[in-house]
This record gives sequence, C-alpha cells and structure tokens, in this order.
Amino acid sequence: MEPCRFSRLASILMLSVALAVDLMPRLTFRRGDSSRLLTSFSRKGVLNYDTFLLSEDGATLYVGARDTIVALEISNPDSIQLKGEIPWEPTPGKKVECVFKKKSNETECFNFIRILVQLNETHLYTCGTYAFSPTCAYVDLENFTLVTDDTGQPLLQEGKGLCPFDPRHQNTAIIVDGELYTGTMNNFQGNEPIISRTLGSRTVLKTDSFLTWLHADAAFVASFNLPSSLDEDKVYFFFQETAKEFDFFEKLTVSRVARVCKNDVGGDKVLQKKWTTFLKTQLSCAEPGQFPYTVIQHVFALPQPDGGAVFYGVFSSQWQAGNFRSSAVCAFTLNAITKAFNGKYKELNKECSRWMTYSGPTMDPRPGSCSVGPSSDKALTFMKDHFLMDEKVVPANNQPLLVKRNVKYTQITVHQTRSVSGALYNVMFMGTDKGFLHKAVVAGSGAHIIEEIQLFEKPESIRNLLLSPEKGILYVGYSKGVLQIPLTNCSIYTTCGNCILARDPYCAWDRHQCRDIRQASENMSNWLQDVENGQPDPGCQQNGVKPRSFSRARNSSEGSTIKILNPPLNPIVRLPCPQASALANYSWNYTDQEADGGLVIEDDKTLVVVVQRDTAGTYECWANENGYRHPVARYLISSGHREGDLQSPALLLEEQRSYWVQFVTVTVLLSMTLAVAVALAFFSYHDKLKAKSKVQGCSLSEAHGKGSGQEKVPLNGSQSPPPQGPEDQHHGPYQELATDGAAKACCIRVEGDSSGVDADNNQLNSSLANGEEGQGATAAVGI
Ligand SMILES: *[C@@H]1O[C@H](CO)[C@@H](O)[C@H](O)[C@H]1NC(C)=O
Ligand SMILES: *[C@@H]1O[C@H](CO)[C@@H](O)[C@H](O)[C@H]1NC(C)=O
Ligand SMILES: *[C@@H]1O[C@H](CO)[C@@H](O)[C@H](O)[C@H]1NC(C)=O
Ligand SMILES: *[C@@H]1O[C@H](CO)[C@@H](O)[C@H](O)[C@H]1NC(C)=O
Ligand SMILES: *[C@@H]1O[C@H](CO)[C@@H](O)[C@H](O)[C@H]1NC(C)=O
Ligand SMILES: *[C@@H]1O[C@H](CO)[C@@H](O)[C@H](O)[C@H]1NC(C)=O
Ligand SMILES: *[C@@H]1O[C@H](CO)[C@@H](O)[C@H](O)[C@H]1NC(C)=O
Ligand SMILES: *[C@@H]1O[C@H](CO)[C@@H](O)[C@H](O)[C@H]1NC(C)=O
Repeated sequence: MEPCRFSRLASILMLSVALAVDLMPRLTFRRGDSSRLLTSFSRKGVLNYDTFLLSEDGATLYVGARDTIVALEISNPDSIQLKGEIPWEPTPGKKVECVFKKKSNETECFNFIRILVQLNETHLYTCGTYAFSPTCAYVDLENFTLVTDDTGQPLLQEGKGLCPFDPRHQNTAIIVDGELYTGTMNNFQGNEPIISRTLGSRTVLKTDSFLTWLHADAAFVASFNLPSSLDEDKVYFFFQETAKEFDFFEKLTVSRVARVCKNDVGGDKVLQKKWTTFLKTQLSCAEPGQFPYTVIQHVFALPQPDGGAVFYGVFSSQWQAGNFRSSAVCAFTLNAITKAFNGKYKELNKECSRWMTYSGPTMDPRPGSCSVGPSSDKALTFMKDHFLMDEKVVPANNQPLLVKRNVKYTQITVHQTRSVSGALYNVMFMGTDKGFLHKAVVAGSGAHIIEEIQLFEKPESIRNLLLSPEKGILYVGYSKGVLQIPLTNCSIYTTCGNCILARDPYCAWDRHQCRDIRQASENMSNWLQDVENGQPDPGCQQNGVKPRSFSRARNSSEGSTIKILNPPLNPIVRLPCPQASALANYSWNYTDQEADGGLVIEDDKTLVVVVQRDTAGTYECWANENGYRHPVARYLISSGHREGDLQSPALLLEEQRSYWVQFVTVTVLLSMTLAVAVALAFFSYHDKLKAKSKVQGCSLSEAHGKGSGQEKVPLNGSQSPPPQGPEDQHHGPYQELATDGAAKACCIRVEGDSSGVDADNNQLNSSLANGEEGQGATAAVGI
C-alpha cells in the first residue's frame, strides 16, 4: 500500500478565469412567436407534468403528474388529445399523516408520480411520492385504470427505495428484462440514497448504506441499459454527490457514473441481498483554465451504429466566476467509461483517512466485471471496499462540446440526423431552468446554437424533454402541462443566405426556398447547405438566385408603434434595424455619407434621423455575418417633387421616446421654414394654395394618384432613383410613408404587398425583431 500523501486536485486548483467570448443563440424566439408554434396540453387542476413514457408504437404519451396519470393521443402531429386519465390521490389518512410530519398540504402532501414504466404489453408500473409515503401500482392499459384487488381498491405496493418521499428529490428508474432498476432516496429524511432492483422473480438487490457506496446527498439524474450494445449486460446510473476522495477545503460535488451487472444475484454469506457488482467513477467535464463543471444535471444516451454509445451530459458549475454561472455539455463514449471501470480501483487508507490508488494484487475474474458464475467470498469482500475507480472518465476530445455562460441547462436530448451531403449530425436540445430551449449542433468550427425558444410565460425549469425522432417532435413537460414543438421550421429562413447561415442540419436551400430535407423525396444533390461553416458564398449567388424579401407582417414585443399625428408634428424619424441574428454585425449606410449631422445611431442600431432638407436619401442597414453581407432594412426618405417644393415637412411618426433637444432645434428650424413658406405661398402662389387647401382627408387612392412615381425620387432630383436591391423589383413590399406637403400630413401611404405591411406596428421593426432577417425590408418616408 502506498504511504499516505496528499492527493492532488489538479484541475480544481487552477482557477485562472479567462472569460472567453460567450456562445450566443443565433435566433431567439419569444413565446407566442408564430414562427415557432407550440402545441400545448394542460388540464385544469392538474400540475407537475414530471414523468414521461412514450408507448412503443409512438402513438401515446403517458404522463405522470400530481395526483394524476394521463394518456395523451399524439398520433396527429398537430394536436395533443386526452385519451385517458387516472386520478390517483393519497388517501385522506396519508395526507393527515403527511401534514402531521410538518409537510405542507399545499405543496407537498400529494402523490407526485415519479416512475412510469412499461412492464409488459398490457401493463404499466407506476410509483408516486404519495404524501411522503412512496407507493406503487399497476396500470391496466386495456381500460387505463389502476389494477384493483378483490374489494375494488387499487392494488398498492410499498414504494420505499423505488421512489423518493420528497417531491424535491430527483430519482431515476428503468425497466430491463421485466426488472425495475431505480436510483432514489430511501428515507423520509432524504439522506440515504439507494440503487435497487425489484420486480421480476429474482432477489431484490440494494446498495449497502452502511458501506457508504453512495454519499448521503447523491442525486440521480438518469439511468440506461443499452440493449444492442457491447454492454447490454450492464445498467448505468448517473448522479451527483459530495466527493470524499479529495482533500478540499469545502464541500466538493462531483458527477458520477455507476454501473451494476444484470446478472448480479447478490452474495451468499457476504453481501447478501446487496449488489456484488456495484462500481462508480467520476465524470470530468472541464475546459482548461476554467472552473470545472462538476454538477451533472441530466444525461442522454445516443446508441451508435457500431454497438457503442455516447452519453451527452449537461453540467453546471458548483462555483461561479463573477456573475457567471455557466453550463457545459460533455459527451462521454461508452468506451471511455468502460476503460475507467476496467482500470485501477481506489481504496480508503484507514490510517490517514485518504483515498488512494489500490495497488494490491488483482483477482481473476475481475471483481465487478459481470463475469458469470458465483464469486468467491474473497472477491465479494474486496468489492465491499473497492467500489470507486481510480481513473475518471474524460469527455471526447478532452473538452466540453459546448459551453454557455449565464445559463443553467437542466435537460438534454439529442437527435442524430443526416445533412444533404449525407454527413451525420447530432442535434442537441437543451432545456434551461428559466424555460428556454436551445437547439445546437457541433460542427467543424465548434458548437453553434441555432436557435433559442422561450417556452413559458413565466420563467420555470423544464422538467422533461422527450424527442420522437419519427415524428420530428419534441415534447416538453413543465408545471402546467405538456408542450410539443417541431424540431425545426425551415420556412423562417426566407433567403438563401439565411438558410445557410442558420447551419440547421434539417434545412437546406432547394434553389427556391429553404426546406426541411427530412420531408424531401427528390434528388437533393444541388441543394445548398453548409452545416460545418455556414458560409453562403458562392452558392447563393449562383444561378441568379435572388434573395427573397420577406412578406410577413408580424408583431414584435418591442416594436414601436407608429401613430399618425396631426399636429403636433415631430420631425424625427426612427429607422429600426432589425437584428435577428445575434451572430451578425449591423451597420448603416446612406446615400450622402457626409450629411450625418442629424443622425444618431442608438444602442439597438436604430437610426434616428432629424429630418432636414439634406437628409433625404436612402438609408440601408446591412448585416455582416460570417463574411456574408446583406441588407436587412432599407428606407427612403424623400422630399416631394422638386427643390423648392418643400413647403412644410410633415412627419408622421410619433416617438415613444423623447428627443427633446433635437425636437426643439428642429421645431425652431421648421417654424422658420414654415414662416418663409407661408409668406412665399401667400404672395406668390396664392391661387395654388387655395386649391390645395381643398384637398382633404387621407384617401389612399388620392395620394396614390397624385404622388405616384414621385416618392422614390430623392430630393436632389437630378439623380437617378436610389439604389435598390434586386429583390425590390421582384416582390419586395415597398412601404412608403409619403406626403407632398401640409395638406397630406395625415396620410400614410402604403404600396406593394399590403399583407407585408402593418402600419400600426411598423412592420419593419416587428417582422425582423422576431427572428427573421428577411432581405430588403424596404420603406420610404416622405417629407
Ligand atoms: C413556420 O414559420 C412560418 C413563417 O414564420 C410560419 O408562418 C409558420 O406558421 C411556422 N410553422 C410552424 C409549424 O411553426
Ligand atoms: C391545508 O390546511 C389548511 C389548514 O388545515 C386548510 O385551510 C387548507 O384548505 C388545506 N389546503 C388543502 C389544499 O388541502
Ligand atoms: C403483465 O404484468 C401484469 C402485472 O404483473 C400481469 O398481471 C400480466 O399478466 C402481464 N401480462 C402479460 C401479457 O404478461
Ligand atoms: C379493466 O380491465 C380489466 C381486465 O382487462 C378488468 O379486470 C378490470 O375490472 C377493468 N376495470 C374497470 C374499472 O373496468
Ligand atoms: C442526383 O442528381 C445528380 C446530378 O444532378 C446525379 O449525379 C445523381 O446520380 C442523382 N442522384 C440520384 C439518387 O438520383
Ligand atoms: C399586433 O398587435 C396589435 C396590438 O398591439 C394587435 O391588435 C394585432 O392584432 C397584432 N397583430 C398580429 C398580426 O398579431
Ligand atoms: C450600402 O452599401 C452597399 C454595399 O456595401 C451598397 O451596395 C449600397 O448601395 C449602399 N447603400 C447606400 C444607400 O449607399
Ligand atoms: C463584428 O465586428 C467586430 C468588431 O468590428 C469584429 O471583430 C467581428 O469579427 C465582427 N463579426 C462579424 C460576424 O462580422
């Protein structure tokens, strides 16, 4: 045995915090955004939709909630229908007991369903906390009721050791060959975790609490058996617990994977009714120079075609650096885990109470290796103290797949899909504790968060994520119900550039539109997609593919409202630059680069124009993303027909914010102009003025007839029409806010595709802020 020495905790002590640039979701959708529609199910009075079970045929989703189990019909992708419901409350006696034990009858003394597994074709097995008295029951699928005894009462079983007492405690359960493997808290106090195997005909097996194979605070997040893998004879448990093997000044949480063998039947004299194959090891998820991500939140296992598997885990940091509490996704191969379990053991040196590498003699067959045949008492005695492996499991490439600051991921699920080129991509869906869903892909250049979707009105943790690959739908469980959301919506990418910049493996540009490749049956060899790098050039420019302008009018939560004011007039125009992509740079350019005296660019890139004679012209906001430049908004500020015709600039935009200084300045200028104009008009154009004053109202047709063809001409009329993108000639909605003079001060003039214009809500702002940087949002403001 090695002498006592200090074990080192290398990674933990290197805490130089280098804050790298954070990964940003490219698009963000707020709840209710029509681009990412959510279908929801909820039932009055039913809360806490915590536990999911998908039926084998994929047509039914069983959900365990509070005091209720529901069966949901999900074969129609557009709806979720209630198919069956089992109310399952604790008995009044149990509730009274629960309250007597100082638990809340408002939040805790209910039956929170925590286990829902398919026992056989006709029955489910379910367990709930049952008012701090864990209880299990069978569900008959024929009529979707609890199996009853002769007296008609539900046939209940003791659930201690299978299901937690306290609804706040995490647990995991998996059914393998008709036996139920569970990881949970075994007692009311919540300080005795347990991994056990029940049901079936064999001996019930448990972890030994006296030998402290698990630390008192172990919290289970997932368990797996991989039926067609190299390791089908084992069951894996993922959990977090306080580590004992490190000398550390404070409580150190570590993430663990433990495994047991399916063929374990317990010991004879030693380890009777206990696991004889229980081993555990540390999972390491860290990036160099940063706090390690020690706290595992959830794991998803993705079986590989070669018989292996990859475990995707979401981790958070136990400590925070500054204000950052970060999350990471680490992927561990089954091989790496097996390697750690085949490596050296650790053992506790009782003299100095330190965990050290075991360097004694090895045994054959190796203890804990699922070898068949009874184990010797010697081997079993060895297993009592050698349950912790020396080596930790490191992630693939020795680093996290993805690191996100200021976010806590609580759930993950992964979908493997093929791109147009046939390459396999693993699309990761992560749920946060604030109710956001992140969809990410890892490609050559690193991790990329394709989109972020706000799922709930009020921030709350996502309780469950379940992906149906066949349906292409993700189910989300939360406190008030179940949501379903399609894995993608390719039609939000209306231009070739956006379709490719998105780097969404499900979407490709078929040379006309962005389409979901999983739904395409034709030859896709000339479709455009670049998941690796997201670089639109040169494909998008080829074959005369024209960027399409967006043609939808949508509301934005932050969209400023335009109202018609008549008078007072405000000579300040705010031109929003929709910044849908968080990965792009946005910049303004305008016809007369010199005349920027009256221009202010706000933090959100809105261009504020104080309208003067020389501000007329074209204003364009351009996005630059990944080296690809494209316009996202285009405005034309024109000034009537000829020079000198500018009589009284009437601006129609009411500001939500105040620009008092500009307002005063311009008001003074305008008053002077107006005075001169009125004087001129009175003396020189008396008749004309008289005629004009008869023009009243805001009729569109009238404005149309009069100003048609003129509004697009800039003030310095000698110039040709202002530069326009190709999309304008095709189907660009061209919004104009035009007036010829005082007489039309109350008119807003709209041309082109009226469906693309929402005059009340400034369509330019709203459409784009909602996640689409459609090409060539175009508007003109006339003065
Ligand atoms: C996809 O996005 C388009 C455009 O925003 C929208 O009209 C459509 O309803 C969306 N479809 C879904 C299923 O969310
Ligand atoms: C909880 O107990 C209080 C007092 O005993 C009672 O007023 C209240 O209605 C109970 N709440 C529920 C949900 O049973
Ligand atoms: C399924 O399990 C239930 C409960 O153990 C049992 O009563 C039933 O006979 C089983 N059904 C089949 C088809 O094995
Ligand atoms: C449900 O069906 C089973 C047989 O499949 C039957 O024994 C039981 O009585 C039925 N329960 C009810 C409530 O109808
Ligand atoms: C698809 O079209 C390309 C050329 O356009 C051709 O080379 C390829 O064989 C086609 N693939 C299939 C599966 O038809
Ligand atoms: C836009 O918002 C306004 C109110 O702010 C509402 O009346 C209108 O129906 C909304 N339009 C759409 C398309 O949601
Ligand atoms: C803005 O810049 C782009 C290219 O950089 C150019 O094509 C466009 O004409 C410019 N717009 C204006 C109004 O100058
Ligand atoms: C945005 O601008 C910054 C600073 O000018 C630059 O470092 C960055 O690379 C630009 N990003 C893109 C996507 O162009």
